[in-house]
Amino acid sequence: MFGITNNIYYIGRVNWLIKLIKLKLIDMSLRLGDEAPNFQAKTTIGDIDFHEYINGKWVVLYSHPSDYTPVCTTELGRTAQLKSEFDQRNVVVLALSVDSVEDHQQWILDINETQNTEVNFPIIADEDRQVAQLYDMIHPNASATATVRSVFVIGPDKKVKLTITYPASTGRNFQEILRVIDSLQLTDQYQVATPADWKDGEDVIVVPAIKTEDIPGKFPKGFKEIKPYLRTTPQPNK
Ligand code: BEZ
Repeated sequence: MFGITNNIYYIGRVNWLIKLIKLKLIDMSLRLGDEAPNFQAKTTIGDIDFHEYINGKWVVLYSHPSDYTPVCTTELGRTAQLKSEFDQRNVVVLALSVDSVEDHQQWILDINETQNTEVNFPIIADEDRQVAQLYDMIHPNASATATVRSVFVIGPDKKVKLTITYPASTGRNFQEILRVIDSLQLTDQYQVATPADWKDGEDVIVVPAIKTEDIPGKFPKGFKEIKPYLRTTPQPNK
C-alpha cells in the first residue's frame, strides 16, 4: 500500500517537472545560433512555408506594431527603396504585423505613394499571433497586443545570426541592418571580426585564435600588430 502511494507521489512529481520544463522552453526567447522555428503563414504574396522561403538565402524577418502607423510606413518604404542592396547581399526580406492581408494590401498603396517606392517584399498577416509568439515579438510590458520592432537576421543554414529589438516609437536604421549583414557574411567566410563602427571596405580584426606568425599565410595583404591581441588586416574579400 505504502509502495503504491509512493509511486503515485513520484509520478506526480515527474509530471510536474515535465510541465515546468515545457513552460520554460515555451517561454524561452530565441537566441543566437538557434534554428529559426518554421511556420506557415498568410502573406501579401500568398501562403508561405518559412523554411522553404529561406531557400539558401539570408533572411531579414522583422515585425512592426501595426498597419497605417507613421513610423512603420517610413520603415517599409525604406526597406523597399533598399531592394537592390538586399539583393546584392543575397537577402530576402519578410515583414510582419498582426493585421490582415487585406489591410496590408491597402496600406501598401499608401506606402508606395508617400515613400515614392513600390513595396517589393511580402508582409505576413499574423492575425492569430502564431509567428509573433514563436519569435517572442510581443513584449507584454510594452504592449499587450502589438508586436514590437523585432529584427531577426537568419542565415541560409536557418540559424539565427542577429536579433535586435527597438521600441515602437523608434524607427529602425536600415543602413545599420545592412552593415551588420556585411559583417555577418564576411565573418562567416573568413577568420576575422569587425571593429566598432566598421563599414564594408575598412580594415578588420584577425581573430585571436590565429597566431601572429600564421597571419601572413592566411592574410597575404599584410597586417598590423597594435597589441599582441589586437591585429588588423585589410578586408580580405575586397
Ligand atoms: C508608429 O508609427 O508605429 C508609432 C508611432 C508613435 C508611437 C508608437 C508607434
